[in-house]
Amino acid sequence: MNKIVAIDGPAGSGKGTLASIVSKACNLVNIDTGATYRCVALKALRNNLKVEDKEEIIKLSENINVEFGLDGKVFLDGEDVTDLIRSKEVTTIVSPISSIVEVRKNMVELQRRLANNNDVIMEGRDITTVVFPEAQYKFYLDATLEERANRRFKQNKDKGIDMSYEEIYENIKARDYNDMHKEVGSLMRTDDQIYIDSTNMTIDEVADKVIKIVKGED
Ligand code: DC
Repeated sequence: MNKIVAIDGPAGSGKGTLASIVSKACNLVNIDTGATYRCVALKALRNNLKVEDKEEIIKLSENINVEFGLDGKVFLDGEDVTDLIRSKEVTTIVSPISSIVEVRKNMVELQRRLANNNDVIMEGRDITTVVFPEAQYKFYLDATLEERANRRFKQNKDKGIDMSYEEIYENIKARDYNDMHKEVGSLMRTDDQIYIDSTNMTIDEVADKVIKIVKGED
């Protein structure tokens, strides 16, 4: 069986940065599953759909083509949408879209296909529980809401995304609630995950810990 490193955790816990560092250190293909939901959200916006247009969104999620390039680039139907999927508009509607059960079913299939025959590191909300419950390495990465809002605020500033700290705090709080109360694929802690609270850790400290475990040096 191919090597699968699965990481779940709430928004802003550092999963993306962690996966990027560990993928390079351990030679793993990096699959950001949140990006697959963001692509559905972007495509829905481009088709002038609202969250209420469930049937159309489900249809759209059946035929979507998402690919991951090198250096974390994301392609939607062949177009580089790496930055577009981080916009405020997408961020606002992605959570309710990711709650649609049929959309989740289609994305889980897509994510499993993306991992086919590769050694992968995959991060999201339901990777350790639904997408790859049989993964050899399962982590739950956490941090306090305040710390996560702080990190996202700094990240956005660097990327030129204009959102106030308060706006980000409220957005993450709402997403936490939504992520933990989904009908299917809820974010949850389980006994077989390795739990890491990164509130008072640097990303390099977290990465060192994970790399040691994946390389069997721990
Ligand atoms: O990790 P992110 O912020 O890019 O994720 C975008 C949204 O997708 C977020 O609201 C949670 C949802 N998501 C999910 O439901 N399941 C996943 N495996 C990954 C993300």
